[in-house]
Amino acid sequence: MKFFLDTANLDEIREVASWGVLGGVTTNPSLYCRIGGKLEDFEAHIGRICEICDYELPVSAESVSMTRDEIVADGIRLAAIAPNVVVKIPTMIEGLAATRELAKRGIKVNMTLCFTVPQAIMAARAGAAYISPFVGRFDDISEDGLSQLAQVVEAVNNYDYGHPVEIIAASVRSANHVAQAALMGADIATVPYGVLKKCVEHPLTDRGLASFLADWEKVKANA
Ligand code: G3P
Repeated sequence: MKFFLDTANLDEIREVASWGVLGGVTTNPSLYCRIGGKLEDFEAHIGRICEICDYELPVSAESVSMTRDEIVADGIRLAAIAPNVVVKIPTMIEGLAATRELAKRGIKVNMTLCFTVPQAIMAARAGAAYISPFVGRFDDISEDGLSQLAQVVEAVNNYDYGHPVEIIAASVRSANHVAQAALMGADIATVPYGVLKKCVEHPLTDRGLASFLADWEKVKANA
């Protein structure tokens, strides 16, 4: 499973890139709003993320339009920012139609706000390269987001769509979400910075490190 960072924060992206685990970045309008993003700077900001990603790792930039023609126009404009831009489009009829058009032009689409098996399969059929089933937002309404994700992974992987399709576990809120996504075979987990940091940590790692360092002090004292 690859790790994508779910953020628009450049410092977080640079930091995780330095860890050697960054597989890509996903943004959305809320994440851009959270960093105080300005409307007129949006495309330049996506360009800066693409640069940090060496113009190679996929960077999802979301369309906020509601009709197929407008979404296609957004997609063409966003894809022109850099070769590693992936156009993020909500799962809805207009979004499917726009995905079909963009896929025909060789532009990669990440279908977002996906919650069900039929939505995911339709996204794949329309030509989406990535599908983002949301986990945490199911938990928010007292449903089991992980079992919903498991169903999407199993169902999508039952079929061949004539093009590569990768499932991005999204709306990830905990290290357990990350672990379970990997166990069920999600291709990617897009993870907020704070959660990704927690994924590196374990109390037994801390305890083991403390005892190794303490013993090394004894070795030095005996020198
Ligand atoms: O990228 C979309 C998704 O990851 C949003 O997560 O926490 O706002 O449900 P969240």
